Amino acid sequence: MRGVVNVQQAEAWNGWEGTAWAENAARYDAMMGGFNEPILDLAAIGGHDEVLDVGCGTGQITLLAARRAGRAVGVDISEPMLTRARADAAEQGIANARFERADAEVHPFGKGGFDVVLSRGGVMFFTDPTAAFANIARALRPGGRMVFIVPQAGGPDSEYAQATAALAPLMRGPSPAAQGMGSLSDPDRIRAVLGDAGLADVDVRPVSAPMDYGRDATDAADFILSQGPVRHNLRDLDQAALIRVREELRDGLAPFAEPDGVRIRGSVWLVSAGQPTG
Ligand SMILES: C[S@@+](CC[C@H](N)C(=O)[O-])C[C@H]1O[C@@H](n2cnc3c(N)ncnc32)[C@H](O)[C@@H]1O
Repeated sequence: MRGVVNVQQAEAWNGWEGTAWAENAARYDAMMGGFNEPILDLAAIGGHDEVLDVGCGTGQITLLAARRAGRAVGVDISEPMLTRARADAAEQGIANARFERADAEVHPFGKGGFDVVLSRGGVMFFTDPTAAFANIARALRPGGRMVFIVPQAGGPDSEYAQATAALAPLMRGPSPAAQGMGSLSDPDRIRAVLGDAGLADVDVRPVSAPMDYGRDATDAADFILSQGPVRHNLRDLDQAALIRVREELRDGLAPFAEPDGVRIRGSVWLVSAGQPTG
């Protein structure tokens, strides 16, 4: 891949965390899928639109966009994620989606080549967010629109904090791939970064949705324990401690178990902005 400035992120997302995510893509898509409709509804993709999905990962949103659009292109810095995305596109017979490895912060996108830019949580990891959004905005035609979600800062009262209280004392810092995850959790910062990047009509609104963590409390505990940030922080625990944490986590998740799965309400900022027309 030419032109990478986010070297640390490229290493992390091409390492064990990216591989583990790609291998569990269906579970991550189930977790994040409640946000698909709000993103796609706001993006209002037209049948001839050219769509760019930034930090597309294993490509669920790219493929959903492709079904509505003229063409969709997913870019991501992680080869394991893109391999999975291409396989899913082939399996679903979606011929108008393409996936490209790129650092979106500096990739030479064609000027004004896209009507819509989307991202489901793929735009928080840039070294220089203003430069990155200015670069991505250049790919939008005048009058084109950008719609993305970024995580809100989860407070101690959030359902996730309640359900995973067993992990709280062990979570000392972000995993390599999660560095930057909270960089756009403040709406004022989002507005400042997008404004400095030359985007207009910035709108930031809260959206929450049930996030699907697993079939039952045990399954959900195992999924959470498999996630990069948790694995990173628990890597030095011995077997006995790990078993204890797993049991406590399962007990914390049990109140959120419904007949068809464990659902925890998650909150994001749904952001839209436009490329000025003149
Ligand atoms: C939290 S994952 C979200 C993936 C996907 N959008 C989804 O919803 O499943 C973040 C993604 O952003 C990608 N990413 C991080 N930094 C990037 C960069 N500078 N350029 C392109 N992609 C990047 C990662 O490789 C990863 O696939």
